[in-house]
Amino acid sequence: MALVHKLISLYLVALFVSDLIACYGNLEGDTTIGDLVGGASLCGTASYPSHFMSPFDERFDRVGVSQVSRSNVFNVDYYGAKGDGKTDDTKAFGKAWAHACSSSVSAVLLVPKKKSYLLKQITFSGSCKSSVTLVIKGNIEAPSKLSDWKLGDQRHWILFNGIRNLSVTGGGTINGNGKMWWLHSCKVNKSLPCKDAPTAMTFYSCKNLRVENLSVRNSPQIQVSFEKSTNVKTSNLTITAPSWSPNTDGIHVAHTQNIEITNCVIRTGDDCISIATGSQGVNIMKIICGPGHGISIGSLGARNSKAQVSNVTVDTAQLIGTQNGARIKTWQGGSGYVRAVVFKNIMMDNVENPIIIDQNYCDSSKACKIQKSAVEVSNILYENIKGTSASQFAITFNCSKSIPCHGITMQNINLVGQNKKSTISACDNAMWTKKGNVIPTPCVYN
Ligand SMILES: *[C@@H]1O[C@H](CO)[C@@H](O)[C@H](O)[C@H]1NC(C)=O
Ligand SMILES: *[C@@H]1O[C@H](CO)[C@@H](O)[C@H](O)[C@H]1NC(C)=O
Ligand SMILES: *[C@@H]1O[C@H](CO)[C@@H](O)[C@H](O)[C@H]1NC(C)=O
Ligand SMILES: *[C@@H]1O[C@H](CO)[C@@H](O)[C@H](O)[C@H]1NC(C)=O
Ligand SMILES: *[C@@H]1O[C@H](CO)[C@@H](O)[C@H](O)[C@H]1NC(C)=O
Ligand SMILES: *[C@@H]1O[C@H](CO)[C@@H](O)[C@H](O)[C@H]1NC(C)=O
Repeated sequence: MALVHKLISLYLVALFVSDLIACYGNLEGDTTIGDLVGGASLCGTASYPSHFMSPFDERFDRVGVSQVSRSNVFNVDYYGAKGDGKTDDTKAFGKAWAHACSSSVSAVLLVPKKKSYLLKQITFSGSCKSSVTLVIKGNIEAPSKLSDWKLGDQRHWILFNGIRNLSVTGGGTINGNGKMWWLHSCKVNKSLPCKDAPTAMTFYSCKNLRVENLSVRNSPQIQVSFEKSTNVKTSNLTITAPSWSPNTDGIHVAHTQNIEITNCVIRTGDDCISIATGSQGVNIMKIICGPGHGISIGSLGARNSKAQVSNVTVDTAQLIGTQNGARIKTWQGGSGYVRAVVFKNIMMDNVENPIIIDQNYCDSSKACKIQKSAVEVSNILYENIKGTSASQFAITFNCSKSIPCHGITMQNINLVGQNKKSTISACDNAMWTKKGNVIPTPCVYN
């Protein structure tokens, strides 16, 4: 009996030591973690499944490790993830998350490098006891067969729900393998019915959120979506999908306040960034976009809904070969407003509609009926926007007759056609003023 006990504790000690080494080893040369969790030590008391916990707790208390350890590392591999690209690792990630989320000190959930983890639909739910940093160093892959997706909830692949103080970072890749979804989209094959496809990463109802240093690619639909969240910082994301992939918005923002999106490169099939209703205080800086449909506020007011979007700034962006540049799009019949919007310091390179407000937006196979009510568009500044337009119409203000666009300021605009061809503007019901040079001149208010 005593011998068995001794053997077990030797085994546990050996495990503990190897865990500790593995843990330090994995994080070696990684400065990001310390930065993120405030200089926390790298390994903690719970980097292993819970059934090994109690003897270690005792040991830690004795050697005082728990006092110096301020951050626990939960490596998905310790929870049985294989990372071979074939085994379904969803359960292992779920278990690792449960432990990280209930850690009483800040936790790091680690997805190791040089491995590929196959994940089916998964929800990481809060609230968590402490801040959690998900460090993705390797690849996370979605199933490529449609039959591997649950029927019913097809809107999300990876969902983060109700979490405070979450960071997601690490330099790894999230691949939605969306090709089969695209081929089955009604936008690609007109004989098929229109259905939702999953968003690769959804952040829902999160507060104090950082999403940085990641590649996201080939989502079935929207690539990264921030919804009902506050205080969000996202930077250095590389988001890619082919130009023909339908509805693959790069970053979608809805019902979110105080969000900063910086230093992102987005090449995709739909909007690079789309800003939907309920968004306030959206700061977008240093974006490279294209191919794609540009940076869009909207669409707003669909099915007679009320929209509210304010305080949006896009500062320093380059749009290359996109369908639109700086766009505001609303449906007829909506209500509410878009106001206090700034588009400035933007380079357009061969953009179809560099500056466009479209209050007759209609993304439907049937023509939309004429309606009086509209989402009010006001207080919009376009400043220092230069480059080339792929179409003759460099500026389009297609505003509502009953609620004209007003408070539009154009300042230092120079948009020419390919080979310096001249461009024109097309406007209906738009009241604007100009400062400095504006080429082409917007048309007279009628
Ligand atoms: C992102 O990567 C840069 C460069 O490697 C690093 O300085 C920064 O701390 C990283 N950010 C996070 C949140 O890990
Ligand atoms: C989140 O961070 C705030 C501010 O640092 C802190 O007051 C709060 O307790 C944290 N909450 C969690 C769950 O970590
Ligand atoms: C951006 O993220 C990549 C990994 O995705 C990293 O290698 C690079 O250093 C980061 N750059 C900055 C400026 O943070
Ligand atoms: C479009 O879908 C129909 C119905 O499923 C199918 O028969 C047809 O082969 C598809 N077309 C293409 C081009 O994939
Ligand atoms: C919007 O911006 C105005 C002017 O900069 C500021 O006074 C107001 O507080 C902002 N509102 C929000 C919700 O960010
Ligand atoms: C505005 O859009 C409507 C519907 O698409 C179109 O008929 C009209 O010509 C457009 N007006 C301008 C000025 O572009």
